[in-house]
Amino acid sequence: MLDQNTIDRIIDAANIVDVVSEYVSLRRAGANYKGLCPFHDDKTPSFHVSPAKGICKCFACGEGGNAVHFIMKIEQLSYVEALKWLAKKYGIEVEEKELTPEQRQQLNEREAMFNINEWASQYYHDILKNDIDGRTIGLAYFHNRGFRDDIIEKFRLGFSIDQWEALSKEAKRKGYNPEYLIKTGLCYKKDDGRITDRYRGRVMFPWFNVSGKIIAFGGRVLDTRTKGVSQKYINSPESDIFSKRRELYGLFQAKKQIAKEDRVYMVEGYTDVISMHQCGIENVVANSGTALTQAQIRLLHRYTNNITLLYDGDEAGIHAALRGTDMFLAEGMNVKILLLPDGDDPDSFARKHNASEFKAYVEEKQTDFILFKTNLLLQDAGRDPQKRAQLTLSIVYSISVIPDEILRAAYVHECAELLQQDEAMLLRKVVENKQAALEQLRKQQEIERERQERLANNPETTEEPTGADTPITQESPTEEQPTTPQETPSRWLPPHDGGNTRQSVEPPSASRFHGIERMMMSLIVRYGEQNILTEDAEGNPLQLPLINYVYEDLSADELSLHTPIYSKMLNEAILHITDPDFQSSRYFLNNPDLDISREAANLMTDRYQLSKGQHMLSEQELMPEYITHLLLDYKFLVIDDEMKKCQQDMNDPLLCTDAMHKYMQLSNIQRQLGKRLGDRIIMN
Ligand code: CTP
Ligand code: MN
Repeated sequence: MLDQNTIDRIIDAANIVDVVSEYVSLRRAGANYKGLCPFHDDKTPSFHVSPAKGICKCFACGEGGNAVHFIMKIEQLSYVEALKWLAKKYGIEVEEKELTPEQRQQLNEREAMFNINEWASQYYHDILKNDIDGRTIGLAYFHNRGFRDDIIEKFRLGFSIDQWEALSKEAKRKGYNPEYLIKTGLCYKKDDGRITDRYRGRVMFPWFNVSGKIIAFGGRVLDTRTKGVSQKYINSPESDIFSKRRELYGLFQAKKQIAKEDRVYMVEGYTDVISMHQCGIENVVANSGTALTQAQIRLLHRYTNNITLLYDGDEAGIHAALRGTDMFLAEGMNVKILLLPDGDDPDSFARKHNASEFKAYVEEKQTDFILFKTNLLLQDAGRDPQKRAQLTLSIVYSISVIPDEILRAAYVHECAELLQQDEAMLLRKVVENKQAALEQLRKQQEIERERQERLANNPETTEEPTGADTPITQESPTEEQPTTPQETPSRWLPPHDGGNTRQSVEPPSASRFHGIERMMMSLIVRYGEQNILTEDAEGNPLQLPLINYVYEDLSADELSLHTPIYSKMLNEAILHITDPDFQSSRYFLNNPDLDISREAANLMTDRYQLSKGQHMLSEQELMPEYITHLLLDYKFLVIDDEMKKCQQDMNDPLLCTDAMHKYMQLSNIQRQLGKRLGDRIIMN
């Protein structure tokens, strides 16, 4: 955790032009800067940076925010990771909050492990390029497989010398603490106490975590030694910094492209990832031969909603394609399957084709998972009634874990046709399955709650794994249990906008108000603390900060903003307006609630504001009049809305008289408002 003080210092130090310039070449445009947007294929410079406001925005794709948001998006980092990234750039020492001495020690240990791994990866890489054995054995092997040098660099591939203590001795010579050679698994202790290298005479594949730190290694024997000598791959053991179940090989190199293409390809091995990169397909990760876990799926879900699983077209590959996929569905991801021609894995296929051929094949051959499964099982089952019943159950199960209701219904419809089953019956089964799953979820949460209580009462207890990343084992319908996602039940609600919840979803009528509310909030974000001259109930002059002015004006008529995020912003700001040195834009932009800070950044970068340039001052001067009009506009619209409802009620004989009466009242108020508004009525 970072403390607020540190966060403030980082945000103060971050210079938006400076930060964006690392990725985008900017040129001056008046008080601002412009460049090609890094988040979409931009033809004309749509990406604007405002140094005065500390924010950036693409006017074509809408992406943007302050420096933290920019780094989050472009580096695909979490909020805290992005802050740390900026802290590093500006040489700000990050103070971690409330760490016990043990935690601090642990942190230092992890740091030391990352350090020694980083060094070791460079060491292996250096041997591959400069050592005589490294070159003639290791590098020759990679070249033989067709790996290019730039790809060898990108994945920092290496070679370990075929000696017992090559790395261990060099590490000691360099002053590294041998303790960490053991803790990372680079070496192990023999009975006689000697510290021995784990990898000898192998080509080395380092694992980067999402932020680019080396957390583990995989070492492959060379073909000449494969026969019966030893395991093909040796991987780092589990450690404080490496849990195989939680990592995906290649994610660091792939994450930008995954986000950009909004799709990830999942393959099995190191060499599949590398060959695909070389072929020009960079949004690819490997689960390195093990069963996929929920933790891995969630990690991927941070970057995209769409996954394509690549498998060999042989028996084993097809079988593997059916396994574990329900877990992606349960996480709300869209799953496609791609079978490669029999006998090819992604590595061999990528070597036979260039990028555009590969991509064309993928486009043509990837199939929706549920339909793939249905068709496949149908072929298998033939006319056998028992098999067909089992198959139906299995498909119903897959559909029932999909969180999105509309998608579920669509699948039920399609599968009913394929299976020649009654759609209503299938739907009923899906619902039953879902209820069972919810029941299970409730139980899980109960267990989790009890566990938390136990932990709170007895903090000494060590955390047991919650099973949140239990490997997938179920594959046949009879073994399948309803899934038990460990998240809140809201996981089961459809992700309304494809999981990309930037803005809250509003009820339809709210959208009528959105335009005006947005203009009001835009003033509040920029000038919220500035005083407005108004009158109190007795008609005496009264100074009120803009935030209070709007809040009280709306409350007086028992109104609140319709757009949930705006209403939240106003309600929170009113609690903070009395904070010492309160400054509205600062408060909103740096709000710990990411939805708020993002929305604030959006409001600060409305096109008409950025392009206004030097007129800004006059807008500020006009603000009091502007907000008064907006509030009137707003009320006018609220009444208009009410009147529309009345008109509807007038069609109902039971409600007609009341509705008519109310309508008259409303139109009276509206006339009065209209007079005050003059011709300036804004409708949208
Ligand atoms: N794997 C492993 N340990 C093994 C075998 C396999 O960790 N003993 C993992 C590796 O991550 C490997 C993946 O499973 O990349 C897939 O295995 P395989 O297809 O056998 O290896 P490839 O990566 O295809 O290697 P190559 O093409 O060099 O044979
Ligand atoms: Mn292979």
